[in-house]
Amino acid sequence: MSDSVFLAGDENWWRQAVVYQVYPRSFKDSNGDGLGDIKGITSKVDYIAELGVDAIWLSPFYPSALADGGYDVADYRDVDPKLGSLADFDEMIKAYHSKGIRVFVDVVPNHSSDLHVWFQEALASEPGSAARDRYIFRDGKGENGELAPNDWPSHFGPTAWTRTTNPDGTPGQWYLHLFAPEQPDFNWDNQEVIDDFKKTMRFWSDRGVDGFRIDVAHALKKDMSEPYPYIENYDVKHIPLDGSHHLFDRDDVMEIYRGWREIFNSYDPPRVAVAEAWVPAARRPRYASPETLGQAFNFDLLAAPWSARKFKKSIEFNLDLSEKSGSSSTWVLSNHDVIRHATRYGLPKKTDYEKWVMTDGTSPELDRELGLSRARAATMLVLALPGSTYMYQGEELGLFEVADLPGQVLQDPIWLRDGKTRKGRDGCRVPLPWEKGGSSFGFGTGSAHLPQPAWFAGYSVEFEEAQEDSTLKLYRAALKLRKELLTDENLEFVDSKRKVVHFVRPNGWHNITNFGKKPIALPAGSVQLTSAPLVDGKLPGNATAWITE
Ligand code: GLC
Repeated sequence: MSDSVFLAGDENWWRQAVVYQVYPRSFKDSNGDGLGDIKGITSKVDYIAELGVDAIWLSPFYPSALADGGYDVADYRDVDPKLGSLADFDEMIKAYHSKGIRVFVDVVPNHSSDLHVWFQEALASEPGSAARDRYIFRDGKGENGELAPNDWPSHFGPTAWTRTTNPDGTPGQWYLHLFAPEQPDFNWDNQEVIDDFKKTMRFWSDRGVDGFRIDVAHALKKDMSEPYPYIENYDVKHIPLDGSHHLFDRDDVMEIYRGWREIFNSYDPPRVAVAEAWVPAARRPRYASPETLGQAFNFDLLAAPWSARKFKKSIEFNLDLSEKSGSSSTWVLSNHDVIRHATRYGLPKKTDYEKWVMTDGTSPELDRELGLSRARAATMLVLALPGSTYMYQGEELGLFEVADLPGQVLQDPIWLRDGKTRKGRDGCRVPLPWEKGGSSFGFGTGSAHLPQPAWFAGYSVEFEEAQEDSTLKLYRAALKLRKELLTDENLEFVDSKRKVVHFVRPNGWHNITNFGKKPIALPAGSVQLTSAPLVDGKLPGNATAWITE
């Protein structure tokens, strides 16, 4: 492999990076089979470079039966043949590095796919065998082991246990899966599991990968001793601050990450990682410490309503928190697991989004104009904050959630496993519209694996390229300007009206976001960019302005 695969440079590049999440199967299909692929990602390097982000993060592209959109990994060190090959991956990384864009991959260490060779081997082996010890197998309760070992729920449905069938056809032991039955949980007390993931980290780091997004980083270590506690649900609210939960955020999970840190630091520049850890905020710094993963997602804004007070509180709190860990904060408005932010902000406060999707997005009615103006304003706001921003493919087009996908096309295990009572996350995973027309709006040459709505035409890259005030143009302008204005990781809030968030960075870069309805006067200075046109020199409601002194 040639040296040009590697991108050298400042070891702190990640601290204020803008990372663009690619959901590979829905990004760009290069061979017309309806699924996005690695070559498709490579083909869009100019688009990503022009957008102006610092890095891309690829959701899983590994061999997978797609029981959970690829988060069921059958082989951690290969590319799904449906998406390409390792050679395609190497080419992709070269293409992105040649433009100075870094690459993150997603590592899923809590569980594998049930098709992973280790799980298949475990199924074919005896209870108590070394092969079974890599996962969490237990005998059932009841006279003949016919009852699950306990009543823990799965994230996707009623139970976290599935019974196996022995090679001779008789019912066997049960195994734990905190997600779908096709996602058996690993036993992280097993040395082979520990060693194998280290191998995976080296494998991708050697191929030039710059960073890792660690899936469900809080769940790896478990206390499986009996008596099992009663666990009603997996709400973060129920995770205590002392590391004593049986399944989540146990103190010793850090041992794993300290081991990975040694590997990350053996590269130049050190590889970086960001934890997806659904833990109480006060525990987040443990994952974000320079001795462990180095950074952790702050998902607080995913849950925050459109409110100046809530945004300000969350910003203050998280900047404080990241200082404690020595890391930088992360800001997230959308990802592949949540309702797109242009939609969230266009629905009345307190809307239950899951229920709304079940009405095909008809009740309550979505105010698209309002949602999009707020989304544009929110994006500018987070881009002005110290720390890094993780954005999700399609948000740069101002895409809304596709809420009216019919039941028969849904792929999310939430829909399939929870009695079809929740549609799940497919609505933000619909393949991107690159062109105004064609069988899949330029996603591929055939149809797309999830149907795209007709309104995608007006949100396609081709359409937005031609509109001066499009969301795509706003993202490009904001990202370009941000690079010029970026300064050290400090900010000061400026006294402002109740419905306004006004802060200034040390170099005099002001961000003013008007969360209210009425236009507001702007402070003196030079207006660099606004998310909506000024009205008689004033900043309209639901808009952001950047001003320099
Ligand atoms: C993470 C992923 C999500 C996936 C789950 C199980 O939360 O973001 O998409 O379903 O882990 O791997």
